[in-house]
Amino acid sequence: MASAAVVAAAVAVAALAAFCATDPLRLGSMVDFPGFEAYIVDLPDPSEIPPHADARDRLRGAEIMFRGEVQGPESVAFDTLGRGPYTGVADGRVLFWDGARWAYFAHASPSWTAERCAGPKASTSDYHRNENICGRALGLRFDKRTGDLYIADAYFGLLKVGPEGGLAMPLTTEAEGVRFNFTNDLDLDDEGNVYFTDSSIHYQRRHFMQLAFSADPSGRLLKYNARTKETTVLHRNLQFPNGVSLSKDGSFFVFSEGHRGRLSRYWLRGEKAGTADLFAILPGFPDNVRTNDKGEFWVAIHCRHSLYARLLSRRATLKKFLLGLPIPAKYHFKMLIGGWPHAVAVKLSPGGEVLDILEDSTGKVVRSVSEVEEKDGKLWMGSVIGPFIAVFDYAMAP
Ligand SMILES: *[C@@H]1O[C@H](CO)[C@@H](O)[C@H](O)[C@H]1NC(C)=O
Repeated sequence: MASAAVVAAAVAVAALAAFCATDPLRLGSMVDFPGFEAYIVDLPDPSEIPPHADARDRLRGAEIMFRGEVQGPESVAFDTLGRGPYTGVADGRVLFWDGARWAYFAHASPSWTAERCAGPKASTSDYHRNENICGRALGLRFDKRTGDLYIADAYFGLLKVGPEGGLAMPLTTEAEGVRFNFTNDLDLDDEGNVYFTDSSIHYQRRHFMQLAFSADPSGRLLKYNARTKETTVLHRNLQFPNGVSLSKDGSFFVFSEGHRGRLSRYWLRGEKAGTADLFAILPGFPDNVRTNDKGEFWVAIHCRHSLYARLLSRRATLKKFLLGLPIPAKYHFKMLIGGWPHAVAVKLSPGGEVLDILEDSTGKVVRSVSEVEEKDGKLWMGSVIGPFIAVFDYAMAP
């Protein structure tokens, strides 16, 4: 890292701190979070990052659908008959598109009520306030054999609901006596075994900003055994493990590591079974991963790594110091994401090579993407922070 960049960043931050110190409405600092600790992140070296970019910003050609009708639709799934999409939204419900309108399908929280959870909201922070009571369905997957929907709910663990929907039934909420605090995504095999992630033991989703800066290494990769109903830890000490997707042949699955910007592969069969290795280096912060009919992987990336992210990644003390300055979290966050959210979707071969990359580098049309689900040549893109689903006609794209 060039020292000029460090100095420039330090000056910018100091100026911002001076400005914010005069702001009577400033929010508390991030390090006020009980037990906040800053960890270093082993970001890939710029020279390791695949050089691919989308010079034509093809994602700007996406169609923005259902604007304002779905808030924060993280994951997008279609049922065994191809109906949908189904998606989990900010008020804790799973909704489905019945062809004419969005209808209720399921929810995870036994204490969900319309008054408490589905009232009009001014902003996303209004949703955050009640999320731990109302639930937040993130990863969704249908069981192709039974039609059941599996849900990774950030607050209520791993759940299952029948094809008729309703209140989902919890399958597991802890492993090794430690509760999940941020269940995030899942995939399931032909026997109904579920591979899933708990992004952190210590931080809940409504504190994702603190988690983003802490780089807390308590995330776990887990397996729910459908026969024994036991949950085991496959991998621990991960920094923001997030999306999970089985390979087409089921010999391994990949999982994304949000902080480190990479995909790892966990082997289920063969001589490496039970071990993990690097699958692909990514240019930014990944979320969900989904496999298409050809066995290729689509990875949703919230934004490319910024200079600020690089600056802080290896300097835990500096990070803690900067975060302790009276600067509202949102400014740190803006710098972390490089100014503004901007969607990136990467297509990887079944072996992990970059095949294609789609971007909206200025976030003009597709501000953010949390999942890319390919169906009949179209890419359905969820957005955990946006009020829309973006659809890109990949088969027709120039
Ligand atoms: C789970 O998250 C909440 C909120 O982020 C936190 O207060 C609590 O201590 C966490 N649980 C553990 C075991 O750290």
